[in-house]
Amino acid sequence: MSRMTVNDRPVEFDLDPRMPLLYALREAMNLTGTKACGGGDCGGACMVLVDGVALRSCRITLAEAEGRIITTIEGLSSDRSHPVQQAMVAQGAIQCGYCTPGIVIAAAALIQRNPAPTLEDIAGAIPNICRCGVYPRLIRAVEQAGRVAQRQERISAAPAPGISAEDAAKAVPALRVPAAE
Ligand code: FES
Ligand code: FES
Repeated sequence: MSRMTVNDRPVEFDLDPRMPLLYALREAMNLTGTKACGGGDCGGACMVLVDGVALRSCRITLAEAEGRIITTIEGLSSDRSHPVQQAMVAQGAIQCGYCTPGIVIAAAALIQRNPAPTLEDIAGAIPNICRCGVYPRLIRAVEQAGRVAQRQERISAAPAPGISAEDAAKAVPALRVPAAE
């Protein structure tokens, strides 16, 4: 049994403790906002906060996550009002749904510890591989989010989503392998 806190809720996973945290979050908790290449190759679509540090959940086992506080993209804010989420919308930095959750998590961790990051800080903190060329807008979004976090700037709130993260996950559940008959 692996015990930890996920998005402010205490949870117990009755799973192999060698299982990557990624699969427990997606398959057992249906937290499908955390994306996966499955092999550690995408640079961080699977990023989650572990005790406030952005880590690749495909590289952490349940045993290693024991007792930690985990925050997924669904738990970052209840209404997607986190400065990084708002700045990503304001800067038009959201491209594909595959990369964006991990990028937001990595950026949130960065501005939490360093709200005025340099270009090098941003490049070092966000290792996600993105092929759509969003990087210039992404850099502007992270810089803006840092200013918002320090209350130096305000962003007009993006429209509230039409569906809660929890309901969205129910509507599009994680893929499950059918049990053998
Ligand atoms: S799933 Fe791609 S790096 Fe973790
Ligand atoms: S955001 Fe996914 S390829 Fe650029």
